[in-house]
Parts: sequence; structure tokens; C-alpha cells
Amino acid sequence: MTAERKQSLALFLATLDDLLGSGYASKREYSFSKDPSSSDPPAQPVQEQKEQEPVALHAALKKPVPPDSLHRIINEVYICTACPLHKTRISGVPGEGVEHPVVLVVGEGPGAQEDKTGRPFVGPAGQLLDKMLSSIDLSREKQCFITNIVKCRPPLNRDPQLEEMEACMPFFSRQLALLKPKLILSLGRIATQWLLQTNETITKLHGQWKDYKGIPFLPTYHPSALLHNEMWKRPAWEDLKILRAKLQEYTDQKPELSKQKEPEV
Ligand code: URA
Repeated sequence: MTAERKQSLALFLATLDDLLGSGYASKREYSFSKDPSSSDPPAQPVQEQKEQEPVALHAALKKPVPPDSLHRIINEVYICTACPLHKTRISGVPGEGVEHPVVLVVGEGPGAQEDKTGRPFVGPAGQLLDKMLSSIDLSREKQCFITNIVKCRPPLNRDPQLEEMEACMPFFSRQLALLKPKLILSLGRIATQWLLQTNETITKLHGQWKDYKGIPFLPTYHPSALLHNEMWKRPAWEDLKILRAKLQEYTDQKPELSKQKEPEV
């Protein structure tokens, strides 16, 4: 399915969702048709309507609010216009992976390939990320969920601006609340500094466990930085081993460290 088709399908689903979720049928009880040919009942005098209101209103208020869901977030990301990034995107990139991940992986924002496909980390940096995860027996299909701070591509891959990250943050917070990951792995300076609200460099922060809303949080280098600079390959590998060691606390099996293989960068 093309990104454009996906977006219009998402728009249709979100509209349908809103109509059903906000009690369209019960709202119609209160609306007065201006069309003389309409078969709707004529408008009631204000006084009469007031007398009927409490019962009907009570019923409408009791309608359960639909619970949040990852599916709902996906649809909302596709049609989001909360910041200027929507004007230049092909597709929003909500994120993907398992519903209850061991590790939530967070990048900064989609690149060109991600924008075209609507999927996170599918370009060269994404391929390296998959290798890095697989070197410690993780994958987006089995134990991870991968997303970004901003869900739409910043033009020419520039850094996302503060207002853009702020506007997109509710999506991340809702994803976090639903996914309930055991650990968070943040990739690169932008995502790390934003989530930890610090100006410390990634060189200083990487490989040290932090806390994000009660969840152990490990910063490491962004895979695209590793593609550009060999120098960070070794420390990034050391970070993965730190993540691997922590993962042991969440699994019964003892890891077979000899099986770990340094990813090729
Ligand atoms: N870089 C990111 O930060 N996120 C992606 O999804 C792809 C590249």
C-alpha cells in the first residue's frame, strides 16, 4: 500500500472512530435540522428541551470513553498537523514492534526512507540498528518497539526543533504508557538530551543507566553516527553489552556470552 493510500485510509478510520467514539447517534438527538425537507423532528422550544435534557444527557455522559490504543495513535500520527513537519512529510512514522516490549528503542526522527515507507529505521542507519540489536539477541519482531521523538521527517534531515519535539511528545508519552517497556535505549544526542532534559554530551551520557519515569534508560550513540565515524563503534558495542547484562535480570536464562558477536559497522 502506498504511503498516500495509507494516509487517506488512516484519515477515514480516524474520522469513523471519532464519529463512533464521540457518540454521534446521541448527539443527533440534540441537533436541529435547518433543512425544511428533512424528516427530523422540528426544533423544540428551549423550555421543553431543558426538561428532557437531564435524562438524555446523563445517558450520553455515561457512554464509556474508548481506551487509548497503539492503533489509535498510529491513525492520529498519520493525520497530525500539530507542528509544521506535517507540511513536508510523505507519511508520518508512528513506530513499530511488539506490544509489550522488553526494550523501547528511541531515535530522533524519521529520515527519507522512513518518510517514504511510514516505518522507523529502515534506511542504512536502520539496517545497522537491526544488526546491533540482533548481536544481543533482540529484534523489532520479538522484543523491541522502535519509535522516534518526532514522528514526521524534518526537512533535509535537520535536527528536530524544540517546538516540534514538544508538539510530538504526547504521542511518545501515550506510547510509553501503553507499551510499558522494561528498558529504554535512546539513540544519539537529540533523543537522549530531550528525554533526560539535559545538555550533557552523548559522549558523557552513553553507557550509563539513567531513569526515565521509573524505567531504566540507557543512552548510546545513534547508528548513523556510527556509520560516519568508526571511532564510536567500540564504545557503542560496550553500551550494547551493558544493555545485554541488564536484560539478564528480565530473563531466566543465563546468557551465553560467547555467542555475542560484535556487529559489523
Ligand atoms: N534516524 C532516526 O533517528 N530515526 C529513524 O527512524 C531513522 C533514522
